[in-house]
Amino acid sequence: MSAKAEHYIDVRKQIAAVIAGETSRTARLATASCLLREMFGERFFWTGFYEVDPAKPTELVVGPYQGTMGCLRIPFGKGVCGAAAATGETQRVEDVHAFPGHIACDSRSNSEIVVPVRDADGRLVAVLDIDSTEFGAFDAEDQAGLEAICGELLTIA
Ligand code: SME
Repeated sequence: MSAKAEHYIDVRKQIAAVIAGETSRTARLATASCLLREMFGERFFWTGFYEVDPAKPTELVVGPYQGTMGCLRIPFGKGVCGAAAATGETQRVEDVHAFPGHIACDSRSNSEIVVPVRDADGRLVAVLDIDSTEFGAFDAEDQAGLEAICGELLTIA
């Protein structure tokens, strides 16, 4: 197993240990954004969540994050986060400037990965968005590691 894959396992365990028993979704998402940023450092230039707005179910609204100021709202289907929300599939984008409809919250972001987050009933409730100033910063190992973390973020008791 690669060092990166092992690191993802450590990060996943740390997040799980802190959120175990926590009933607040905000507390869980805030903990994950903080630990992901702390444990991956500068490569994770913007690390946080957009949540499905219960009052506008086809719109994402910014949730807990670490980084420079993010856009507040993203409609489903718009940009990388909106594509992840609309399709329910992880989006891994090597060059965000080439992505149709990309929303440039911070022009220093050059690549991005967005992973759907579901509740225990399988409903999409948020997306994890990680941006990097490097091009092509995220590979299949990042995707697998982040999908594993997002898979249990709101489902472990
Ligand atoms: N780049 C994102 C928007 C959110 S921010 O980068 C924080 C997108 O196109 O979905």
